[in-house]
Amino acid sequence: MKEITLGIIKPDAVEKKIIGKVISMIESTHLNFVEIKMVSLTKTTLEELYQEHTGKAFLPELIEFMASGPVLLLLLEGENAVNTLRSLCGDTNPDKALPGTIRRDCGEGLPKNAIHASDSQESAKREINLLFPEHQIV
Ligand code: CMP
Repeated sequence: MKEITLGIIKPDAVEKKIIGKVISMIESTHLNFVEIKMVSLTKTTLEELYQEHTGKAFLPELIEFMASGPVLLLLLEGENAVNTLRSLCGDTNPDKALPGTIRRDCGEGLPKNAIHASDSQESAKREINLLFPEHQIV
């Protein structure tokens, strides 16, 4: 089924100047880029983005890190887009991710794991509506 999904190239990867490497890895899949946007996310927006992690011990560190520098927002589409991007990202923990995945090849650890990817079509819609308000999806 044709889906949309959201990727976020995180501040660690932007700082390391490996945006091109991450984009190139995504371009090796069948996914298409609909829109790309470089932004600095506010803590308020990040609290909304990561609402499912409310109360978790790592949330303050995650929000601090995600607000520490610019990120690249990726709006992607294609067949099975959510799982395609998540497979390419690999395990959340770069140490556990397989070679050839973005997090293993580009991440440093937690929370500096190079990329965020929506975990379901519902999350993708919520996240895209939050971060690409010009692309409201119903
Ligand atoms: P992401 O896919 O953006 O979803 C939630 C993020 O929380 C995750 O990637 C990591 O960056 C971060 N994260 C998850 N678990 C931990 C942890 N144990 N310690 C620090 N950060 C974490």
